[in-house]
Amino acid sequence: MTKVDAIAIIVAAGRGERAGGELPKQYRPLLSKPLLRWAVEPFLVHPRINGVLVVIDPAFEALYEAATEGLDLLAPVMGGATRQQSVRAGLEALAAHGAPAHVLIHDAARPFTPPAVIDRVLDALETHAAALPVLAVADSLKRVENGAVAASVERAGLARAQTPQGFRFDVLLKAHRAAAEGYTDDAGILEATGLPVAAVAGSEELFKVTEATDLARAERHLLARHGDVRTGQGFDVHRFGPGDQVILAGVRIPHDAALMGHSDADVALHALTDALLGAISAGDIGKIFPPTDPQWKGMDSAVFLTHARDLVTQQGGVIAHIDLTLICEQPRIGPHRDAMRQRIAEILQVDVSRVSVKATTTEGLGFTGRSEGIAAQAIATVRLP
Ligand code: CTP
Ligand code: MG
Repeated sequence: MTKVDAIAIIVAAGRGERAGGELPKQYRPLLSKPLLRWAVEPFLVHPRINGVLVVIDPAFEALYEAATEGLDLLAPVMGGATRQQSVRAGLEALAAHGAPAHVLIHDAARPFTPPAVIDRVLDALETHAAALPVLAVADSLKRVENGAVAASVERAGLARAQTPQGFRFDVLLKAHRAAAEGYTDDAGILEATGLPVAAVAGSEELFKVTEATDLARAERHLLARHGDVRTGQGFDVHRFGPGDQVILAGVRIPHDAALMGHSDADVALHALTDALLGAISAGDIGKIFPPTDPQWKGMDSAVFLTHARDLVTQQGGVIAHIDLTLICEQPRIGPHRDAMRQRIAEILQVDVSRVSVKATTTEGLGFTGRSEGIAAQAIATVRLP
């Protein structure tokens, strides 16, 4: 294994219009991490990559910061109106701060990069100025016009180009500076130079998330490689005391009492945190965040749940489902159920369809029936590789 001086540029400045949805696809949650984080991590942990730089749309800088929190990345660079302009912006930023010998350009929309593909591209760069991963075309190819086949296209010799594409930095920068507009990948830009571009084996795992259905495909892909299903359950109770609101699953609900506790007393998030910890046999919330520790006083319980989520992802796990039951006579949960599901989904970085919030009374029986407090139960389904 030869050491190449290589930086990875991840282009993430697109709007993801074809995928639809409220957020650009690279910031959408994907089973415990935003898609962008899945895309960045294989490069960050790869021993032959010296640095990772993400090119972003300045309108989504806050989403970028949240998605990459805690990761050791180079400062983000603001992209342009086209992919080509975004890559150029990344290259110019590197040039201004001491150019590396090699650069890999990767689409943020491809969340799963096998380390072996990175190795193949870097290996090829020892003998070539450029290299890209390709896949053979298995289907017959047709040119279709107005819903009818206009012609068959010879398939022999054709291949599908993927990313990461690797280059000698000086060669790619020069080609970009000289290129006209309209290229959809960087190997294309290099063709004008006449330099040979090495083709190495790509991977089906490198598929690009383009349409909304590709997000579902990405989830299925992850679940397929996480076959070890674990469940954890959590239970918590907090008593009522004086106050005018309760915080349940991160949602403030006006009430004629408040829940008492050392933190914000969010009984729902506490049960959920314990369920996640249970699924990975990581102890319980009281062990990790002792109530005797003054630093947790009045704390937003999202901090505890985020920590449990991070412990799951550190084990390579994904969160498949959450089912939460709140047990109380008052306040009524129904009107706040969707806000609670949204907040939990946001903290855990999963699609809201993977979060269930239910409520029940105990028909006036027991401490919940007497409205002395609220109880919560949760079950988390986690999948490990
Ligand atoms: N990209 C970019 N800057 C742009 C356009 C695209 O950095 N102005 C990035 C995208 O974020 C993506 C990659 O280039 O990671 C491939 O582009 P594509 O799949 O087309 O993504 P979008 O342009 O975001 O999607 P769409 O074309 O559907 O709007
Ligand atoms: Mg695009």
